[in-house]
Amino acid sequence: MREYLIAGNWKMNKTPSEAAALAKEILPLVKNSTSKVMVAPSFVCIPAVAEVIKGSNIILAAQNMATATEGAHTGETSVLMLKELGVEVVILGHSERRHIYGETNEMINEKVKLALANGLKVDLCIGELLEEREAGKAEAVCYEQLEKGLAGLSKADMANVMIAYEPVWAIGTGKTATPADAEAIHAACRGKIAQLFDEATAQATNIQYGGSVKPDNVKELMAMENIDGGLIGGASLTAPSFGALANFDK
Ligand code: 13P
Repeated sequence: MREYLIAGNWKMNKTPSEAAALAKEILPLVKNSTSKVMVAPSFVCIPAVAEVIKGSNIILAAQNMATATEGAHTGETSVLMLKELGVEVVILGHSERRHIYGETNEMINEKVKLALANGLKVDLCIGELLEEREAGKAEAVCYEQLEKGLAGLSKADMANVMIAYEPVWAIGTGKTATPADAEAIHAACRGKIAQLFDEATAQATNIQYGGSVKPDNVKELMAMENIDGGLIGGASLTAPSFGALANFDK
C-alpha cells in the first residue's frame, strides 16, 4: 500500500539559523506522524537543517539540482554536493523552476536521470497553467510532463520516483483544486504511469497534491483515492501548521 507523504517545500524562505529553528520546532510535532514527513530547505540551509533532523523520521530534500555533476556551471549545485550533505530526495521540475527559470521537460529529464544514477530519490513536479486548464488541456499538459520527464527510466527506477501534481493556478494563491478536480488529474496521471511502465508501478507510485494545501483542507484532499500526500509551500513555514498537516486526521 502507498504511504502518505507530507512534504514542506520551504522555497526561498528562512535563513540558515531560522531554518534550523523551524526544524527544531517541527521535530517533536511530527515524530509520531503516521505519514512520511519531508522538508526541503534552500541549498544554503540544508547543512543546518540536516544537523537538527539527524536520526529523526524527517526526510531531507533539496528543491533543485544541476544537470551536471561538476565543472563550469556558475551558480549551480550538484547532486554530489547534495548527497554529501545527507539529502535523500530532490524535488525536480517545480513550476517555479519551469515558469520563472525556463526549465524545459528535457532539462528536467536530464536531472531526473542524473539524480537516480547517483542514488537520490526524485519528486517530479507537474501541473498546468490556468490558461491551459481553461483550454481543457490540463491532462494533456500533465501527460506530456510525465512522458518527457520520465523518458528513459526503467520500472526499477520508478521505485525511487514520486510525483507531485501542482496546478500552477493553485500555488500560493489560496485557490485549491477541489478534491474531485485534483483526484481526476491524479487518477489520469496514474493511468499514464501504467501506460508508460505497468499497472503495478502505477499503483506503487506516490502522487502528492500541491497548491494551497492547509490544515483545514488537507483531510478532504487526502481522502481521495489517488492523492497520496501533499507538497506544501506557505503552510509548511510555521511549526504548528506543518505539525497539523503531518498529523492530519486520516
Ligand atoms: P503553496 O502551498 O504555498 O500553495 O505552494 C505549493 C507549492 O508550490 C509546493 O511546492
